[in-house]
Amino acid sequence: MNSQATLTIRRPDDWHVHLRDGAMLAAVAPYTARQFARAIVMPNLTPPITTVAAATAYRERILAVSGAGFEPLMTCYLTDDADPAEIVGGFEAGVFTACKLYPAHATTNSAHGVTEVANIRPVLAAMERAGMVLCVHGEVTDPAVDVFDREAEFLDRVLAPLLREFPALKVVLEHITTAEAAAFVAEGPPTLAATITPQHLHLNRNALFAGGLRPHHYCLPVLKRERHRLAVRAAAVGGSGKFFLGTDSAPHRVGDKESGCGCAGVWNAPFALESYAAVFEEEGALERLEGFASEHGARFYGLGLNEGTVTLRREVVEVPERVGDVVPFHAGERLGWRVAG
Ligand code: DOR
Ligand code: ZN
Repeated sequence: MNSQATLTIRRPDDWHVHLRDGAMLAAVAPYTARQFARAIVMPNLTPPITTVAAATAYRERILAVSGAGFEPLMTCYLTDDADPAEIVGGFEAGVFTACKLYPAHATTNSAHGVTEVANIRPVLAAMERAGMVLCVHGEVTDPAVDVFDREAEFLDRVLAPLLREFPALKVVLEHITTAEAAAFVAEGPPTLAATITPQHLHLNRNALFAGGLRPHHYCLPVLKRERHRLAVRAAAVGGSGKFFLGTDSAPHRVGDKESGCGCAGVWNAPFALESYAAVFEEEGALERLEGFASEHGARFYGLGLNEGTVTLRREVVEVPERVGDVVPFHAGERLGWRVAG
């Protein structure tokens, strides 16, 4: 194994993050801004971000707490009555970078999501013409489908027809968790890419039940069995430009996680790059971390690469059990790299 003491890479971006709002925003945004130059900010607030005005105001609230040198890339939450002119106008004005498709009731704050892709055909056609990216939460919501099968079902039932109907639309299948999704993206058209979270690289579904119920490992899409984790790992470290970093960092207060009906979401922002570095090192692929973290996403979105670098130093990092009112990913564990500075 390579035992280099430091690893310097081009400054990375996070192509999928939940920064929340209010006190939680102020508490969590600096952790993302410390590591990442830019981030695709999810719009699932209450109420969701559906207008240019709401996105502009949210962007200002983020910048007020993130510190200098961080660029939030805003997304528009798609609803059944989303307005193509508002969305493409916001894209052309530089406010929206992408839209987010949540199937209604698929996950946290998705009640206003899309009930049928057919309802947003005019929006998707306008996005396709404008060159705007569609970010997709890829799970069917049919209660008859087993929760562990909802991503794989989505590929055939929803994503394949969508790609056929809008062949030039750029689509990011967010937070992939299955061998089926990894293969679907790898074999799909160049307009299709995927983000991958740290937790789906580190954990399989046994982690949800290790010695008892583990609410801090619960996120959506839920962790899958080991063969899926290995397939997603292979996709992440394989060097393909179709796979890139998206943490899906999703903080919830400890009481909302440790509950009779706990919220879905893993807060991985504090040690995100360290967590990915551990995976790439275990796979003997540290030299490919830079592509995954700092190049593939920007190229897919058609944005420039960042200037500047970050350095990871080989050092034992003890991850705290709590940061404020939130439990971080890897709580109580040790990681082998630290982002310097
Ligand atoms: O685990 C998740 N948490 N998955 C999502 O899709 C949403 C997110 C959140 O907003 O908490
Ligand atoms: Zn998310």
